[in-house]
Amino acid sequence: MALWSGRFEESVSGFTQRFGASLPIDKELYAQDIQGSKAHAAMLAAMGVIAQEDADAITAALADIEQDIEEGRFAFDIDDEDIHMSIESELISRIGDAGARLHTGRSRNDQVATDTRLHMKQRAASLMKANLRLREVLASQAEAHMDVVMPGYTHMQHAQPVLFAHHLLAYAWMFTRDFDRLSMAYEAADANPLGAAALAGTTYPLDRFATTEALGFARPIPNSLDAVSDRDFLLDLMYAASVSCIHLSRLCEEIILWSTSEFGFITLSDAYSTGSSIMPQKKNPDFAELIRGKTGRVVGDLMALMMMLKSLPLAYNKDMQEDKEGALDAASTLEDCYLCMAGMLETMTVHKEAMLAQAKKGYLAATDVADYLAKRGVPFRKAHEIVGHLVLLCDKRGCDLDDLALADFKAESDVFEADIVDALDLRAIVDARTTYGGTATTAVAQQLQEVRTRMAGDLACAAFGS
Ligand code: ARG
Repeated sequence: MALWSGRFEESVSGFTQRFGASLPIDKELYAQDIQGSKAHAAMLAAMGVIAQEDADAITAALADIEQDIEEGRFAFDIDDEDIHMSIESELISRIGDAGARLHTGRSRNDQVATDTRLHMKQRAASLMKANLRLREVLASQAEAHMDVVMPGYTHMQHAQPVLFAHHLLAYAWMFTRDFDRLSMAYEAADANPLGAAALAGTTYPLDRFATTEALGFARPIPNSLDAVSDRDFLLDLMYAASVSCIHLSRLCEEIILWSTSEFGFITLSDAYSTGSSIMPQKKNPDFAELIRGKTGRVVGDLMALMMMLKSLPLAYNKDMQEDKEGALDAASTLEDCYLCMAGMLETMTVHKEAMLAQAKKGYLAATDVADYLAKRGVPFRKAHEIVGHLVLLCDKRGCDLDDLALADFKAESDVFEADIVDALDLRAIVDARTTYGGTATTAVAQQLQEVRTRMAGDLACAAFGS
């Protein structure tokens, strides 16, 4: 029988019962529901609203229920709409009137908001840990491949040579920003709605600051209507997850390209590849493709919640029950994607020679030849044109810039001297880009240091507890 049966003469049909239920999804919040109820009961007793013996009985029974759930002994009743009613009705059936006093001054509206916030704080913290693990792998792989030169691209055309480490660290910074977004989502969730009751607060002398402290929230939410209606913290987390998935999908796309026969820059380990049921030779980068695909799902979760919240009047509306499925899905999907990506990168083989061979194609030295002239007084625009002619000459001859003779260079400009060969050396080209954030070995080493310093700072963040 429903906990509100007093006002009703008929109960809902089996179908509407199932249709209206959120138990299959919010079961996952059981630990937070129990944590919230214990804090509420203790506060009610401290304020003299219920007797201390009742609070003690509630606390002990809730602990037993929690253990039963954890050990798979708890029989969830399909007739319970959600985890809150499931636990409360079990509590009442175990300890009677003491259990029936727990819901004094509380509504499922502030209860569900409290549980969701507590749960999402944990999810955010766990995502932040997985994010750090991925960044650690990127940093270690960058460090291990400081000597690898690859072609840098714009428009997917060879542009200028860069260090592979530099390319990997670009992703490390993208995930660093994602960490910041996740930590902002954590902070958004870190506020206590408990005590807002249904929407207006309550006539009981509740101490909202006491439950805030007991539950480890940073602050109580100052408006009871906002407390039960706000789901922005979920939007924040899902936006952070969406952006991070978009970053992952960009990396996946490159991993997939790099693994082709055309590129041959990397080989993924067998543990992160699959074969074909018909073509014996195939080794497919399935997991990179899957992560790329899951991006659509996580962004979809965010879209669904935004649309659900659009135009909702204050305060609680049943529409809001739809909030948890997507949020939990986005969080677990991103966490799995982080872990999968970390493992995939950690175990890949990097083909240094193949990268270098490609870096030698496509006139990657052209900018540096133009800079050679500009540094010797030729206006850069003129130098650009001169090198354009040289590239055209190479195109016609089917050779590269370093196949040209000094005479060919001189035919375009007599500023060229024998030392032009230095401007054609890929490693020298890379190492000349010493500006802060550039691809020179020295600059990348400094950058790696910064990545690691940021990681150490993030590891010490408040979300991970003291
Ligand atoms: N199952 C509901 C949810 O997840 C709990 C809150 C219900 N409150 C209400 N007044 N019906 O949103």
